[in-house]
Amino acid sequence: EFVVNVSHELRTPLTIFKNIVSNLLSGVAGRINEKQRESLEIANKEVGRLSRIINDFLDISRIEAGILLNRENVLVQSLINDVVELLTPLADQKKVALSTSMYGADLFINVDRDRMIQVIANLINNAIKFVPDVGGRITVRAKELGDEVCIAVEDNGLGIEPDDIEKVFNRFVQVEKHVGPGSHGTGLGLAISKELVELHGGRIEATSEIGGGTTFSVFMQSVREFSAV
Ligand SMILES: Nc1ncnc2c1ncn2[C@@H]1O[C@H](COP(=O)(O)OP(=O)(O)OP(=O)(O)O)[C@@H](O)[C@H]1O
Ligand SMILES: [Mg+2]
Repeated sequence: EFVVNVSHELRTPLTIFKNIVSNLLSGVAGRINEKQRESLEIANKEVGRLSRIINDFLDISRIEAGILLNRENVLVQSLINDVVELLTPLADQKKVALSTSMYGADLFINVDRDRMIQVIANLINNAIKFVPDVGGRITVRAKELGDEVCIAVEDNGLGIEPDDIEKVFNRFVQVEKHVGPGSHGTGLGLAISKELVELHGGRIEATSEIGGGTTFSVFMQSVREFSAV
């Protein structure tokens, strides 16, 4: 409750600050020189980071307060297509090949669509951060496994050591060697994803090979008998 209120209060001045910085950058308040542009661009990047952190704090506190899921029957294929569409601009910008492979994607899962989009987007976002600058590849796969659907995000990035893989789902954990300059996050993305998946009664797993890439898999009960209303 307290965190939710505080986060909300922080957002208003932050939005104003963000607008001022982007106005200055766009030159509407007068011409700026190169040095000023550099500083403003840093301010712009950091304010973006700050608002992502605040959103993560909000999510954590909402989950702790017991958010209600807005469940509906969702076609796995359309869910994946929506997320991939959302992340394609970022993947293109980083020259990462983002593709899908769908088996059993004609199945339905009973989930909060927005929350599931958030989970899969988190996984793709991470993969984009940790694939190589050249030749980065990410595949989002849907598979039918018994009465479950597995949605997996597979990358050919630098991989995670066996010792670290258990820990990446904990809050504020970032594997040290991955945290190069500019790649700073908060280490909350996977913790939030795990909590959201478990709130749905599903589970999330990671498998990785050093140098051979990482796969994050989300398992959800598939909806057997779906009668459209
Ligand atoms: N696809 C991946 N390949 C290699 N390492 C990964 C991958 N995904 C996550 N990790 C490791 O797990 C850590 C935790 O991930 P998490 O998403 O929780 O945090 P983050 O991405 O660093 O920050 P945030 O998501 O809060 O912005 C990362 O810092 C990274 O070290
Ligand atoms: Mg992340």
